[in-house]
Amino acid sequence: MSSIPTTTTSAAGFFRIPPPPHRMPAAGVRMMAGALRSNASSLSTVGSILTNLQHESATPLPVLRHVADAMTEDMRAGLAVEGGSDLKMILSYVDALPSGNEKGLFYALDLGGTNFRVLRVQLGGKEERVIATESEQVSIPKELMSGTSEQLFDFIASGLATFAEVEGGNFRLPHGRQREIGFTFSFPVMQTSIDSGILMKWTKGFSVSGTAGRDVVACLNEAMERQALDMRVSALVNDTVGALAGARYWDDDVMVAVILGTGTNACYVERTDAIPRLHGTMSASGMTIINTEWGAFSNGIPLTVFDKDMDAASINPGEQIFEKTISGMYLGEIARRVLLKMAEEGDLFGRSFPQKLTTPFSLRTPDLCAMQQDDSDDLQAVGSILYNATQVESNLSSRKVALEVCDAIVKRGGRLAGAGIVGILQKMDQDSKGSIYGKRTVVAMDGGLYEHYPQYRGYMQRAVEELLGSEISRNIVIEHSKDGSGIGAALLAATNSKYEH
Ligand code: BGC
Repeated sequence: MSSIPTTTTSAAGFFRIPPPPHRMPAAGVRMMAGALRSNASSLSTVGSILTNLQHESATPLPVLRHVADAMTEDMRAGLAVEGGSDLKMILSYVDALPSGNEKGLFYALDLGGTNFRVLRVQLGGKEERVIATESEQVSIPKELMSGTSEQLFDFIASGLATFAEVEGGNFRLPHGRQREIGFTFSFPVMQTSIDSGILMKWTKGFSVSGTAGRDVVACLNEAMERQALDMRVSALVNDTVGALAGARYWDDDVMVAVILGTGTNACYVERTDAIPRLHGTMSASGMTIINTEWGAFSNGIPLTVFDKDMDAASINPGEQIFEKTISGMYLGEIARRVLLKMAEEGDLFGRSFPQKLTTPFSLRTPDLCAMQQDDSDDLQAVGSILYNATQVESNLSSRKVALEVCDAIVKRGGRLAGAGIVGILQKMDQDSKGSIYGKRTVVAMDGGLYEHYPQYRGYMQRAVEELLGSEISRNIVIEHSKDGSGIGAALLAATNSKYEH
């Protein structure tokens, strides 16, 4: 059996080790920390903030077990009735996974974070498989993330038009055919068919007006018309669904796909007779893919005051709590909030600290990751990263504290992600009387956080092993499926092509 291609892509950028800290006074207003404190009292304040953080964010086995069980229960409740739990358990309308026979030229368009990607792939069926791919990535200007729907979709359609214009070489579209697209749209969408779906809400910091409540394929079609671009969306898919389809193309044992990136989510293969909400409507294959939208899960997650404050200040308070605890968009910000409190109340960076430390999201998850790769004695890189991100001047002891803060947050994130995965596997195993744990089952993973953050990945993997035990763990393969979602969406466009296939 062929396995999912794994990546060797360099993590440059993500692991960028910055130059040594500047010794110039930091720019911006320096705020004086309240009353002058003795060294000893500052140290003990920092120590107790750290101990509280570690205590409140701890995820010992019973907590993990509770989270995994709650995930299983919430999945069942969401499948029983519409709105039955925090988990939307969205029907993807993907009832058949790629078989390997797919042939022809297909496009994929991927919108899900700070970038959008366009891709074309020439599929050659069982023998030739993926003959050629080409892709381009465009970053989305920040202002478009909170602009109007037309602005965002016009930007995407124009990027797609530019990309589609130069097509040649190995790519061939049979005469008279319209180009077909698999549209990966990685936000909670209530699918109404394989090629239509209503946006329920934005996540991951997007707050575009005029899209929620609308069919996102119609939004794209209108923008393509404005660009005079003659292409047709034949499959609308969540990135997890694309990843599952892409990974399944190479490996029949793939049953679950998880994205751990800016945002997070998971989907899995479900039997249609295990979905009471369908009232007996079965798909021809007897299965379908369910997009759990697990980012909205919240049951039993250990939260600290820093999480609660970050949530309250977010554009979607009270929503996406699992996502806010485990995904890349938020880990850096939680750490910044902890360090700020330590600076304010325990003089972590001296008697004053730069204004920049008070700027939300100035410390990013890739910064935490880069800091955790520093194994030097003086933690030079940690100092540089802290300085570059927040302009704080640090010494060895404050750098060590910063690393402990990162570790507490990343450990909780990774371990909870692991518990979520076990929650899904255990639901599938219980319903299929052991056919998940009793044989090789693959969980396909993608997303920058998973791909580039070794400590996070390690914590996640160990939590899965702790929960499943060593024997079952041997059957559960957690595997990186690099960029499965792009090819997966194109494959699903092929499966759902309007032309004979
Ligand atoms: C979205 C999901 C998506 C996930 C990963 C979440 O914020 O709600 O639809 O799959 O991010 O991109």
